[in-house]
Amino acid sequence: MTDMILRNAQLAGTQTLTDLGVRDGRLIEVGPADTAAEIIDLGGRLVTPPLVEPHIHLDAVLTVGQPRPNVSGSLFEGIAVWADRVADLSYADVQDRVRQILRWQLACGVQHVRSHVDVCDPQLRALHALVDLREEVRGVIDLQLVAFPQQGIFGFDGGADLMRKAVELGADVVGGIPHYELTREDGVESVRFAMALADEHGLAVDIHCDETDDDHSRFVEVMAAETIRRGMSGRVTASHTTAMHSYNSAYAYRLIRNIARAGLHMVTNPLDNSVLQGRFDTGPVRRGHTRVKELQAAGVNVCIGHDSVMDPWYPLGYGDPLQAAFVLAHLGQMSGDAELRRLIEMITVNPAAALGVPDYGLRMGGPADLVVFDAPTEADVLRLIAPRTLVLRGGKVLARATPAQHTVRWQGVEEPVNFLRS
Ligand code: FE2
Repeated sequence: MTDMILRNAQLAGTQTLTDLGVRDGRLIEVGPADTAAEIIDLGGRLVTPPLVEPHIHLDAVLTVGQPRPNVSGSLFEGIAVWADRVADLSYADVQDRVRQILRWQLACGVQHVRSHVDVCDPQLRALHALVDLREEVRGVIDLQLVAFPQQGIFGFDGGADLMRKAVELGADVVGGIPHYELTREDGVESVRFAMALADEHGLAVDIHCDETDDDHSRFVEVMAAETIRRGMSGRVTASHTTAMHSYNSAYAYRLIRNIARAGLHMVTNPLDNSVLQGRFDTGPVRRGHTRVKELQAAGVNVCIGHDSVMDPWYPLGYGDPLQAAFVLAHLGQMSGDAELRRLIEMITVNPAAALGVPDYGLRMGGPADLVVFDAPTEADVLRLIAPRTLVLRGGKVLARATPAQHTVRWQGVEEPVNFLRS
């Protein structure tokens, strides 16, 4: 017996509607006469594989205003506020906040998450809490944890030892923050340290790199060189890289080709960096994003991250990757027809490749892991930041929603209205 049939699904990247069957957790072909325990007519709604969050700081979520607000709204005040909040972290405090966000992400269709975790804490409280939570939620939301030295590896007392301890404790990925180290030389050394540590333990690398407006911040080139020398292509991600918006184009041209040669994955974080970068500009104000379109033109895998949810750096958001894609559509000027479809790939298949998610994608015989959006096309999904009406994992319903029904009084008559072009 088939467990579920989803009729009239609009699969991303296709033109015709498809019926999807679900049996024993996998997708199967079904015909018009087939029946199932549950049959849902999707009415042409868009179906994608699960959303993948490649970059978030779960340990900091929901701490906005604690222990004090970020008055200037700047990145550096955010780091100072967070350093004080870290002093109050507890195992339960971290787990309680993260469980709430994981529920929000699940409701948005996110099933795979890479979270940076600040390890500049001699007791590694946040990492302990998240390593245990990773087991608790496995199979519902799969977590990858990055050992992230928020205050630096060499600029923080005992930073290098804490990185090694974090790996022993079970971090999946090694991070870094070279532009925040005390000197350019320390920054270069911190990249080499992170790459060597990951290489030694067979782990991936994901470094906060050049998250500054300073056009002299040039650590992505060190990442690319180390990746090529160590043969780590495909396992290394550069996150933020906002300084690329300030580089001269001759340097950026050479750098982008080396990024492509190294096979780096890139993550841009449109929400945080739209409000954090360009803070010292008096006009024109830089946009705060990496060179997304130039990287894509060179064949580089570029992903969208959410970065923060209600923390000292970004007071908004609820963990929905689609909001970040919507912002990039505007500030990254990605409103072309093909670009709108590419934005959906940047929150699904692209980050799945960066995280190495196994058995990912919609195909007959593959896992029944999917997300249904309450809109028919990628353009409508973005335009409406469309609610997710159904989320399946292994054929099981993990989230469902009944979107709001709107009515208007039009010439004295109350009538329904929806936001699709009729
Ligand atoms: Fe980040």
